[in-house]
Amino acid sequence: MRVEVANHPLIAHKLTYLRDKRTDSPTFRRLTEELVTLLAYEATRDVRVEPFAIETPVAATQGIKLSSPKPLIVPILRAGLGMLEGMVRLLPSAEVGFLGMQRNEETLEAITYANRLPDDLSGRQCYVIDPMLATGGTLAMAIRYLVERGADDITAVTLLAAPEGIEAVDRALSDLSVPITLVTGAIDEHLNEQGYIVPGLGDAGDRLYGVV
Ligand code: URA
Repeated sequence: MRVEVANHPLIAHKLTYLRDKRTDSPTFRRLTEELVTLLAYEATRDVRVEPFAIETPVAATQGIKLSSPKPLIVPILRAGLGMLEGMVRLLPSAEVGFLGMQRNEETLEAITYANRLPDDLSGRQCYVIDPMLATGGTLAMAIRYLVERGADDITAVTLLAAPEGIEAVDRALSDLSVPITLVTGAIDEHLNEQGYIVPGLGDAGDRLYGVV
């Protein structure tokens, strides 16, 4: 897996406020959206395009447009939803599929509880969005799910990642031959015994939407 840490002072600035426990939910949601738009710019560097001939008021010229089939954005429910708006702002013509995954708080293993995706993803570029790459169980399972349905290029976009999670995803997907990229805002220090990223930002879903 190729790992890109989006190194930019604006990203570091917004992440700092996002991490701060005094930041309330409305501000947390707004910052997440802003961060995702910045990360999406980095994540879509290799989005597929095709030539597109146009005429300006002055002359005929050759431009480019996004290729078909359009990219598929897959937020992992629930926290990934907080990243969707920022992502579709940059890729308005993309399609959106949903995967509901949850980790068992005791075993820390991921289970799928909802799925709204096209059956056939042949030749699709997919962008999986989930704020926290912690143990890596959810992300590895989501990526494998997409590749088994034909996706042939996967980019995961996260706000934060733990070194243990990156290693676990890499290990879990080592048999796959499709290109997999991770674009993240920062790689933090480690995971604690409860599976939280340290220093992290706490539970991203709770901070976005409250404790339910
Ligand atoms: N999920 C979160 O929301 N936060 C973490 O720190 C780890 C997993």
